[in-house]
Amino acid sequence: MRSTCSVFCGVSLDGFIARPDGALDFLEGDGTAEMGDHGYEAFIAGVDAIVMGRHTFEVVLGFGQWPYTKKVFVLSSGNVDLSVARQRGADVELLHASPEEVVHQLAARGCKHLYIDGGATVQRFLRAGLIDRLIVTHVPVLIGQGIPLFGPLEKDIRWKLVASRSFPGGLVQSEYAR
Ligand SMILES: NC(=O)c1ccc[n+]([C@@H]2O[C@H](COP(=O)([O-])OP(=O)(O)OC[C@H]3O[C@@H](n4cnc5c(N)ncnc54)[C@H](OP(=O)(O)O)[C@@H]3O)[C@@H](O)[C@H]2O)c1
Repeated sequence: MRSTCSVFCGVSLDGFIARPDGALDFLEGDGTAEMGDHGYEAFIAGVDAIVMGRHTFEVVLGFGQWPYTKKVFVLSSGNVDLSVARQRGADVELLHASPEEVVHQLAARGCKHLYIDGGATVQRFLRAGLIDRLIVTHVPVLIGQGIPLFGPLEKDIRWKLVASRSFPGGLVQSEYAR
């Protein structure tokens, strides 16, 4: 048995999850409309743990406050200092495992539903055929360059559209399942 894996992320219209330097400012819109949480709270409530790449962990550390109440597993092939996050109240653990090992190890630890986060990390799980649900919120802005959500694949991955929703500020959210 393996955990179910979901992605929930905001992207520019041209498919970037962050600027080249990791900045996320474009996700906030142009300030003319209240962006709301567009379903994030409901989504995160149904998640047992968050699995994020080391780069995303470092960006989250830069927020100052630790934003998650769920257990977080940070993926890295190296040593990552978790002490600052723990001082801020994070329940965080380091993992060095393939996507396949992650979904089996964490299922065995009772995590039925994983939130997979980070560009390279999502791409690895996609290539391994392990993403079951994609919730992508497009922000109506082109930023030209940045860190892409999607990347090269060995073969096509087809999805079923579950829902599409629009929000104030011009956000369009598409939810897909395998
Ligand atoms: N717009 C959004 O909704 C959204 C969501 C999430 C993230 N972001 C942004 O995306 C950016 C980060 O994305 P990213 O593509 O640069 O990187 P990332 O996926 O956050 O992190 C990549 C790193 O994770 C580690 N990793 C991933 N899979 C692994 C595995 N199976 N085993 C061991 N280590 C593994 C590696 O770390 P090592 O190099 O240490 O081995 C790899 O270099 C940040 O700017 C973040 O803010 C945006």
